[in-house]
Amino acid sequence: MTARIIDGKAFAATLRQRVGAAVAGLKADHGLTPGLAVVLVGEDPASEIYVRNKGLQTVEAGMASFEYKLPATTSEAELLALVGQLNADAGVHGILVQLPLPKHISEAAVINAIDPDKDVDGFHVINAGRLATGQPALVPCTPYGCLLLLKDALGDLAGKSAVVIGRSNIVGKPMAQLLLAESCTVTVAHSKTRDLPAVVAGADIVVAAVGRPRMVTGDWIKPGAAVIDVGINRIPAPEKGEGATRVVGDVDFASAAAVAGAITPVPGGVGPMTIACLLRNTVVAACRQAGLADPAGL
Ligand code: GUN
Repeated sequence: MTARIIDGKAFAATLRQRVGAAVAGLKADHGLTPGLAVVLVGEDPASEIYVRNKGLQTVEAGMASFEYKLPATTSEAELLALVGQLNADAGVHGILVQLPLPKHISEAAVINAIDPDKDVDGFHVINAGRLATGQPALVPCTPYGCLLLLKDALGDLAGKSAVVIGRSNIVGKPMAQLLLAESCTVTVAHSKTRDLPAVVAGADIVVAAVGRPRMVTGDWIKPGAAVIDVGINRIPAPEKGEGATRVVGDVDFASAAAVAGAITPVPGGVGPMTIACLLRNTVVAACRQAGLADPAGL
């Protein structure tokens, strides 16, 4: 068997178009322009690329983009003051503080200072609690993107057995909650899990979010399973020249694609979905703040 390739790049492009159409409607019908503020502290090169792409795609979708680049020496109090200012700014509907933050700043303190209704990352305890209890929440972008891809590939997920590998607050835990809300039978595996290959072998759905290059191999996968690879791992690629690198997932694509029913590639799978879902969350947040219904098709 050779798996169907789940084209996250194409899916993300159509989602961005739907976001753009919703934004145009909000402007025309309500004079409302959703605004997203992104805060970057320090100079992590990967984060800088990510923040630039967020800004570009926000503007492309017709929304207002506000970027704050602060030095690595910024104090927690200064960052909290900026968050407070953005909370009070009616033109800002979504606030994203790029993680990781410098060691001297408490990520939990900063995240929980964001107005939960503007928390487009869905990282605030209030949003985590809303998601876990089935109340309307802002949901973390990467797992939400994974869910959209899974529903597109499989349709109804009810009753399926899902294994999430990784228990981070950003991906693993919210992914498990989203799959549970779709009535999957969910197992969360992690670094202390015993006999991970045997756990994965029972899964109709595998979501790998561990940050270990090509850890999940085809011999672990149940034939026909759907495999979602969240990993973005940079590894040496001597075949491309001395010092060259390339990006691979947490799944060994070649062996897994020979067994799975559907699989996301890296790059071009989950990655492009994250920012598309961030734009979607920003529009949803703007609508809720304005007392409007969530836009159709998002
Ligand atoms: N760092 C890595 N992924 C993310 C994300 O989705 N949101 C934020 N704020 N920081 C991140």
